[in-house]
Amino acid sequence: MLVHLVAGARPNFMKIAPIYRIAQQYPNVTCRIIHTGQHYDYEMSQAFFDDFGLPEPDHFLHSGSGSHAKQTAKIMIAFEAICETEKPDVVIVVGDVNSTLACSVVAKKMLIPVAHVEAGLRSFDLTMPEEINRMVTDAISDYFFVTEDSGVKNLKNEGKPHDRIFLVGHVMIDNLFHQIEQIKRSNASLFASQQLKKRMGAYAFMTLHRPSNVDKKENFEKIVHAINIISTDLEIVFPVHPRTRKMIDRYGIQFSDRVHLMEPLPFRESLFLWKDARVVLTDSGGLQEETTALKIPCLTLRQNTERPITIEIGSNKLAGTSSHSILEAFQRVMGDTGDDYQVPSMWDARRPNGYGRC
Ligand code: UD1
Repeated sequence: MLVHLVAGARPNFMKIAPIYRIAQQYPNVTCRIIHTGQHYDYEMSQAFFDDFGLPEPDHFLHSGSGSHAKQTAKIMIAFEAICETEKPDVVIVVGDVNSTLACSVVAKKMLIPVAHVEAGLRSFDLTMPEEINRMVTDAISDYFFVTEDSGVKNLKNEGKPHDRIFLVGHVMIDNLFHQIEQIKRSNASLFASQQLKKRMGAYAFMTLHRPSNVDKKENFEKIVHAINIISTDLEIVFPVHPRTRKMIDRYGIQFSDRVHLMEPLPFRESLFLWKDARVVLTDSGGLQEETTALKIPCLTLRQNTERPITIEIGSNKLAGTSSHSILEAFQRVMGDTGDDYQVPSMWDARRPNGYGRC
């Protein structure tokens, strides 16, 4: 069986790594990695392949940045040619980025079965490009691998056949625990941020890159106003996404000197920092879940989330995007004991029936 495993942007790489690793254990499965090139800088792509021990992709599609239409079209044209030559038996797509949508549409139109990992999540906010990607991908997928109950419910409400929906836990959490083991085995002095971490003691960790938060000056400034106030209580480590870096420069956004701006970090370096943070502030989808798995308090700088279980039982709180709501949520989280934080079922990196770790 020939499987095409598609990844394109940073949040995809941690999801394909465990799938690729497991696929190697099945002699009748040939798993080829298709990297669309949506993310291409060393620190947004290759650094993750290195941390995860992933081989060179079998195909690199060089889509690069551009408008959504241009990027999606480039991926579709290149992937179609590969499917024509290789005729995969199944295409696995993960997450909700443009590469996910592009490759699922190409495969489906060529009558190749599509499996979507992280299916069924919905923010019900169609201003988010990711929500459109999720809906389109799920509309045409054949197999749905779901991380939380809300995804199963959404897919059933949308009329998907029940026997195609599999609640399987979370490959990204499998990767997380695998990486924690790697950190335990490594020498802490190998981490570039080790000295800073030691000196700060208690600190917050932040990521920010949603277009709705950083592309408009007014929205970005409201968030940064709150962040600068929070930094008087806790120093903040802030690896900066390329989109956000551009906007900081364009708008001349000023941070307090207790906010430590850095280049985007490789996965393990980033985990080394956030796993011991007092609180994580983020608009990422993945970090909401990863912090939930490790019971680290998380403030999500958005109005909604497609990952409601992280709020219902986990350590995540929706903080909104106004200065006031963020500060209010920060006060609440600092008062939390964390006693009631729970981890969703199967987010434990264990294989079914307890057969050891993935
Ligand atoms: C994409 C995903 C988003 C995901 C995010 C994680 C979509 C619609 N969005 O958003 O869901 O959360 O990745 O990072 O698929 N850039 C570089 N180097 C790179 C990649 C991008 O400098 O390696 C710059 C480019 O100038 C580009 C900008 O970052 O214009 C944004 O990149 P893009 O892939 O368009 O969207 P992201 O904001 O990264």
